[in-house]
Amino acid sequence: MDSKSPIGVFDSGVGGLTVVNNLAKVLPDENVIYFADSKNFPYGTKTENEVKEFAKRILNFLLKREVKAIIVACNTVSSIAIPALTEIAKPVPVFGMIQAGAHYALKITKNKKIGVISTPLTAKKNAYKIELMKLDQRLQVFEVGSQELVNLVEDGVKQNEYAFRLANERLQRPIESGIDTLVLGCTHFPFLYKVVKKIAGDNIAVIDPSAYLVLKVKEFLEKRELLHIGIAHRIYFTTGEREEFLDKTRIFLDFPAEKVEKIEI
Ligand code: DGL
Repeated sequence: MDSKSPIGVFDSGVGGLTVVNNLAKVLPDENVIYFADSKNFPYGTKTENEVKEFAKRILNFLLKREVKAIIVACNTVSSIAIPALTEIAKPVPVFGMIQAGAHYALKITKNKKIGVISTPLTAKKNAYKIELMKLDQRLQVFEVGSQELVNLVEDGVKQNEYAFRLANERLQRPIESGIDTLVLGCTHFPFLYKVVKKIAGDNIAVIDPSAYLVLKVKEFLEKRELLHIGIAHRIYFTTGEREEFLDKTRIFLDFPAEKVEKIEI
């Protein structure tokens, strides 16, 4: 493993591209391997065991490609599998969304009331609440899940009337509870930022955990002297259809995808 080694990033679909966009802003020279498990999308309605199995397979795929760090760009996987994945990946570090999102939310909130919108599985696990309570027992956390919103994004939607209606309905309870911070607790949701912000209004900060996470990755690479300087190559693998994923990168990535490959693992 050296500075040229890529950072491995994975998700069930296009959600993790929000993380790739942030990585490209903060660490523009880093090589990246992105893995979208499009065939098994969605993870948010699967069982814990199924999701863990998918994640382990992807992790091994990335480790074989000698990544220098792994970003679990999926909150659902992060909510159930970080200890297991960290153990398997050693000494390669594994960065999860929930841990980053919790630290970030704690920095932002003033009234200690935090809302989270995620997949149903992440919400059912109370993953953010558990992580946040470890940091500060006085916090109040209101978690809601919506698979329909995730599915809309996976189908290429960034904003429309239906997304607005769905998000508005799901966010009423946390908003009425007086939150001042709302965590986009699914990596698909930063693509719906405009929709969510319109509902949340000016008094609620809407935050994307990956903005914080990529800074932690940068810190780690700096400390280990593993920062890459040079032209970045970013490769995208999908377990779904190549053309379909390529089309989605055109919608969601801030820059053109260099190379997209279909893969079976
Ligand atoms: N993007 C993922 C997350 O952050 C999972 C979406 C899904 O497959 O349901 O949870």
